[in-house]
Amino acid sequence: MLDFDHELHYTGMAKPAYAYAVQHACLLASALGVDRIRVAEVGVAGGQGLLALEHHASTLARATGVTVEVFGLDNGSGLPRGADHRDVQHYFQAGDYAMDEAELRTRLTSAQLIIGDVRETFESWLRSSEIPVGAVLNDVDLYASTAPVLAALGAPNTLGHLLPRVSMFFDDLVPKKREERLKDYSDFTGEALAISDFNEGHATAKISRDLHTVTLPRRLPWHQCAYLLHRFDHPDYSTPVREGVPDRLRLSGAG
Ligand SMILES: C[S@@+](CC[C@H](N)C(=O)[O-])C[C@H]1O[C@@H](n2cnc3c(N)ncnc32)[C@H](O)[C@@H]1O
Repeated sequence: MLDFDHELHYTGMAKPAYAYAVQHACLLASALGVDRIRVAEVGVAGGQGLLALEHHASTLARATGVTVEVFGLDNGSGLPRGADHRDVQHYFQAGDYAMDEAELRTRLTSAQLIIGDVRETFESWLRSSEIPVGAVLNDVDLYASTAPVLAALGAPNTLGHLLPRVSMFFDDLVPKKREERLKDYSDFTGEALAISDFNEGHATAKISRDLHTVTLPRRLPWHQCAYLLHRFDHPDYSTPVREGVPDRLRLSGAG
């Protein structure tokens, strides 16, 4: 795992945020005695992210012993038309980022593609298996596409299909390139608004910044896009994730 951490934080690995999220999901699963999890990229486009996710999942499965099933969900035809300003209409246009599905299918080795509007497919995918979901990498850009995905993750009937804390990544919270100067993200539009609406609407499920990122070397934009879904109502939310030896904070120099 040390080699993986070094690669993750010090080399130009593709989609390090995905690797970081899947790493957390595998470590948590392992601590809880879960030997198989699902992870999903929601919003696939050309497939660069999904290919990176496949790669990270197989590396981390080898390192942790947790089997990781990889899924990608997308309509294949690019962004739907936004409804209003919440969908960042000044930047995102209908049809942006369409997929070449046939080409992508030839490149995938293990990931499964679920083609359809995520407003219809995400919840049924979530509930289609008892294998818990450990990470959701959200990159559907629009408020109208993100909010239903989050609603499914917070619904009472999906509790049994999730780890108690699910690693999340939101691609469209902060810009990652200088060319994105006019994207003008805000806390009141797009994915950020979907997160705050979710938190307002749920008492026992909250989506919070993954604060472990403050310990990471270097300060990178993706650190601000790493989140965790906390399902406080999950039967394993309070299950200990470390050995039962009491923690001690010794005086320095004491034996
Ligand atoms: C920015 S692209 C994803 C890029 C990809 N994650 C990557 O790293 O290469 C956004 C994708 O979200 C998909 N999308 C947005 N809203 C959707 C919806 N309601 N249902 C299905 N797909 C949607 C679009 O088709 C598009 O492919």
